[in-house]
Amino acid sequence: MPMYSEEVMEHFTNPRNIGEIENPDGIGEEGNPVCGDMMKFTIKVNDGKLEDVKYFTFGCGAAIAVSSMVSEMAKGKTLEEALNITNKQVAEALGGLPGNKMHCSNLGADALHKAIQDYMEKQGIQPKEQSSERSAGNE
Ligand code: FES
Repeated sequence: MPMYSEEVMEHFTNPRNIGEIENPDGIGEEGNPVCGDMMKFTIKVNDGKLEDVKYFTFGCGAAIAVSSMVSEMAKGKTLEEALNITNKQVAEALGGLPGNKMHCSNLGADALHKAIQDYMEKQGIQPKEQSSERSAGNE
């Protein structure tokens, strides 16, 4: 009974980037109220890019595969690029998720985005909506 794709199984059995960054630049936590599963992302930012991304996931196999994939997709990206990673992209990169497991993919990108927003708030950076322009002013 093929329930999960090979990519999901592969990331679940061999998750990348697990752990917690010491003195992280941003922290993002997201929980699923339905199943009670949780993810915590920590990020290190250097020169506007995600130098390192780590996470702890207390959740189902799909959630673990999702967080592993999110960490790989986000690493090395600019903050804006990482903010544009969607739950759908993550699910697609994993070769799809079974319908009843789609909600598990929501945690990953959301927790990552929260970590980036946390970083931006600490830096006093205003998150921009739908704009690729960067302004270097504003202090
Ligand atoms: Fe909770 Fe998958 S069942 S995240």
